[in-house]
Amino acid sequence: EDAERIEALLGQMTLTEKLGQMTQLAGGRQKALNSRIDASALARVREGRVGSYLHVAGAEPLARLQRVAVEESRLGIPLLFAMDVVHGYRTIMPVPLALAASFDPEIAGRAARVAATEASVSGLHWTFAPMIDVARDARWGRVVEGAGEDPYLGSRMAEAQVGGFQTGDLSNEDAVMACAKHFGAYGAGAGGRDYDRADISEATLHEVYLPPFRAAAEAGAGSFMTAFNELNGVPTTGNADLVRALLRDRWNYQGVVVSDWNAILELVAHGAASDPVEAAALALRAGVDMDMTSNTYADHLQAAIAADPALLPLVDEAVTRILHAKARLGLFDDPYRFGDAARERTVLGSAQHRLVAREAARRSIVLLRNDGGVLPLRRDARIALIGALADDASSTIGSWRARGEMEDSVTLRAALEPMNVTYAPGVSLRENDTSGIPAAVAAAEDADVVLLAIGEDFDFSGEARSRSDIGLPGAQSRLVDAIRATGKPIVAILMNGRPLALETTLEGIPAVLETWFLGNESGPAIADIVFGAVSPAGRLPMGMPRVTGQVPQYYAHPPTGRPANPDLSVDSARYRDVGIGPLFPFGHGLSYSHFTYSALEIDGHTGGRFPRWTVRATVANSGTRDAEEVIQLYIHAPVRGMARPVKELRGFARLSIPAGEARRISFALTPEQFAYWHDGWRIAPGGVEVMVGSSSDDIRLRGQLDNPVDRALGAGEM
Ligand code: IFM
Repeated sequence: EDAERIEALLGQMTLTEKLGQMTQLAGGRQKALNSRIDASALARVREGRVGSYLHVAGAEPLARLQRVAVEESRLGIPLLFAMDVVHGYRTIMPVPLALAASFDPEIAGRAARVAATEASVSGLHWTFAPMIDVARDARWGRVVEGAGEDPYLGSRMAEAQVGGFQTGDLSNEDAVMACAKHFGAYGAGAGGRDYDRADISEATLHEVYLPPFRAAAEAGAGSFMTAFNELNGVPTTGNADLVRALLRDRWNYQGVVVSDWNAILELVAHGAASDPVEAAALALRAGVDMDMTSNTYADHLQAAIAADPALLPLVDEAVTRILHAKARLGLFDDPYRFGDAARERTVLGSAQHRLVAREAARRSIVLLRNDGGVLPLRRDARIALIGALADDASSTIGSWRARGEMEDSVTLRAALEPMNVTYAPGVSLRENDTSGIPAAVAAAEDADVVLLAIGEDFDFSGEARSRSDIGLPGAQSRLVDAIRATGKPIVAILMNGRPLALETTLEGIPAVLETWFLGNESGPAIADIVFGAVSPAGRLPMGMPRVTGQVPQYYAHPPTGRPANPDLSVDSARYRDVGIGPLFPFGHGLSYSHFTYSALEIDGHTGGRFPRWTVRATVANSGTRDAEEVIQLYIHAPVRGMARPVKELRGFARLSIPAGEARRISFALTPEQFAYWHDGWRIAPGGVEVMVGSSSDDIRLRGQLDNPVDRALGAGEM
């Protein structure tokens, strides 16, 4: 029925109306939503020259705008309303990197579900999330928006978020269409600089950067966004190999592909097109359906088609896909959907949504160090709470705040108010003002223990927020030195949107909690962990380097002929002026309890297309308190003639295990999980090492399986 309706509509559309559907305009700015919806915008909607708006929101204004499209334009095609609803709409959840640290796709899915419900009540249909760019260089500001360094973790988080936003069926009234971005290797920008070129091998592209996109496509993500940057010399927005050949043809992806903001026109600045006419043709040929804000399709495709009529069927295909998305969202049946001003008042920021935010925030916290069991603290401890970030509601919300309000956030300072706490900011975050240090030292001297909140202002990470030095910014190091000199036990509470390089900063500090930017429930969630209401179980989704000069760095590196050696008289793959490896590795995170791993068993099964294996292990909570543990499965799958990663994550599970009890966990392994890229996906036969542990650097059990499969995989197989 939809297909017929769409074909009939297409038959009635003028070229201008078709190009209108392929045009997305900004209805406002991120901080001034709807501000551009003026008389001329409405006139353009009436003429059928807009398909979608972004940076708009609100049930009432969007219903008014939709009415113009539906009742006053010739064909009455509804508009698609979009926004970057990234980690919450009104109820703000932990930033995506923090959610990835939960190693818990279920909570990431629930967080996305809340965001979708709130966004759809406010009249939105489409979110530009999840961002699923793998990132191995913490200098890049946008690491805060993704799931970190690992393609497997990134894939599981991608699926969970797509499921949470879309509910499995886009026609559900509180579903929003997800957008997998930024296709395909935006996270690989040289030097961690935003928008910079990704110059990577085919193998790295397919094995590291693309798997989360594949997972998002399989999970049914309704749209993809191309990236700003170029991949091996070809800007992704004009990259037919990437979009048309791989995404559309090989992966059989049917959803909408939208450019990033102004990126079609920027093909000219890249030097890939000589003028906007050529840029429009290039993007269309590559497979980009919708032009975000540059008006290049609207203004120049007509000329491009005049020069090359073969572009016309590509226009029809793009329009068909966009109309299909509108149909799948149910917009032809009810263009106003879930948007409802009365419901907005009860749903946005509801108590139920806050509970999810609290749970998500707790699960995202990572205990990095706890020497001597400083944590948890006794509730009657005399505490000095030091650091401006402890009182910075703005930073709790992080970047991409949608309609989040600072006033809705409970800071750490506010959460600790009922306790025996003296607060001192010490140094200001945004200026190098150190005049508060003496008062902070005095507070520390009067206390049993210091909670020292340090890290980055939220505005240090995010788009166009790359940094050459990811040490502690501003005057905070002087504060840390002064507090350390008091000799009081210190718990460092890190607040940041990227892994920071803090080896020297954290020297001599017995306890360290990574708390990222946790959203509205930031303070209460940190307090839950600090006082032991909950045992921490988050894990690092990106290793933390010792010093900036170590990045990019990642656990899944290949072996070298001369592995890093602590003995400096041996020539080896390391820096001479810093220790080997990260300060805290990928997957690292401690608990208030202890877990013992035993009884690894690997069983092979035959009977399917390929053999399969079940890997089982017993994990016992050998401590005295109930706690959760994130059990991680890694493999090392050698290939004759090649150097393969020393470890690759292929499974994880976050399990709650009561004190004194044990759980048997099982993971499935299939030969596809050993596949590598060499002119296509291949599986090599041979022994595969299987490792189960508590982090990439804390392997507790090792075993081996023998994989008999030897073959290249076809398009439908991988
Ligand atoms: O979705 C974003 C993208 O991630 C960066 N450029 C702007 C888009 C729309 O706001």
